[in-house]
Amino acid sequence: EEIEKGGYEHFMLKEIMEQPHSVADAMRGRVHPQEGQIRLGGLQKVLPQLVEAERIVICACGTSWHAGLAGEYLIEALARVPVEVEYASEFRYRNPVLTERDVVIVISQSGETADTLAAVRQAQGAGCLAVGLVNAVGSTIARETDAGVYLHAGPEIGVASTKAFTAQVAVLAQIALLLGAERGVLSQDEVRRHAEALAAIPAQIQTVLDGEEQIRRMARDYRYASNFLYLGRGANFPVALEGALKLKEISYIHAEGYPAAEMKHGPIALIDQFMPVVFIATRDATYEKVVSNIEEVAARGGTVIAITDEGNRDLDALAEYVVEVPKTIDALEPLLTVIPLQLLSYHIAVMRGADVDQPRNLAKSVTVE
Ligand code: G6P
Repeated sequence: EEIEKGGYEHFMLKEIMEQPHSVADAMRGRVHPQEGQIRLGGLQKVLPQLVEAERIVICACGTSWHAGLAGEYLIEALARVPVEVEYASEFRYRNPVLTERDVVIVISQSGETADTLAAVRQAQGAGCLAVGLVNAVGSTIARETDAGVYLHAGPEIGVASTKAFTAQVAVLAQIALLLGAERGVLSQDEVRRHAEALAAIPAQIQTVLDGEEQIRRMARDYRYASNFLYLGRGANFPVALEGALKLKEISYIHAEGYPAAEMKHGPIALIDQFMPVVFIATRDATYEKVVSNIEEVAARGGTVIAITDEGNRDLDALAEYVVEVPKTIDALEPLLTVIPLQLLSYHIAVMRGADVDQPRNLAKSVTVE
């Protein structure tokens, strides 16, 4: 086991640190910036059906569901296809309205999650094409779906999913670009620009990982908090959910993720100096709005941690910590902004003496309902 951990104290840390490579692997042979092209061999035979889809329904559980939400943003923004994201467990029992023009995409690291597998069967029963984004090669979901794209993230051992999430988002970005190109929504030039941005992500993730020391200091400051709030908008809303999930899974600190603007409909009542509020506030379309939410929290004596993009000094006076990530295009931000949140939950859990790789009551793969 020590050898498998590659010198790291935990699998989770190893898997966080591997992300420049795992994300590159999820794109290898698929993203061709020079030609302005995305090639996904596993989707070739169903491409016409996918391109013609009237609607895409994404089903998944846990972290994979969060990746699905990031995928909704990507596919709607880049390919203009309507997307619904469903918890597989809800989808299977809700008698969902499906037509043969819908395509169901399921996302699963393990390829064995019982509810997600049931969603595949339900989709196929309704005559829909079922596409799988799966990490584990040869797993049940990989075998039962009609077509799919492997994540190629390599084995993920830590119960809290990290590198599978970024690989899932990277593959969803590729699907969004492919559909955007095929549907004529994106020009060749736009595809090229996005493919270049995607190809730059692995090195940018490395830059974020190189800032680990700051996150460790932050973890030391906030490790005794009993509640955390994570807020983000647009592409970074799923990152807020994922940041909160990572923290509760392995450190057992209660955490909630919310769309930043919804704060005033509830969570604002909880603000005090004891609850760190993590804002994902990159300078994208809703940045100004998020800054006013930050001001509201600061005005109520709340403790603000901000994740923003490189060179942004606006938040220095409002936040106790400002973590910078490199600039990318809006829809790809989750690939970078999630990294400091993974590291924060990891370091807090370690400092609290929690069993990071085997958190209590959780399983890596949930093969029962
Ligand atoms: C469990 C794991 C999570 C994972 C979820 C979905 O809850 O602990 O890390 O996100 O299942 O698993 P899947 O293998 O379908 O992605």
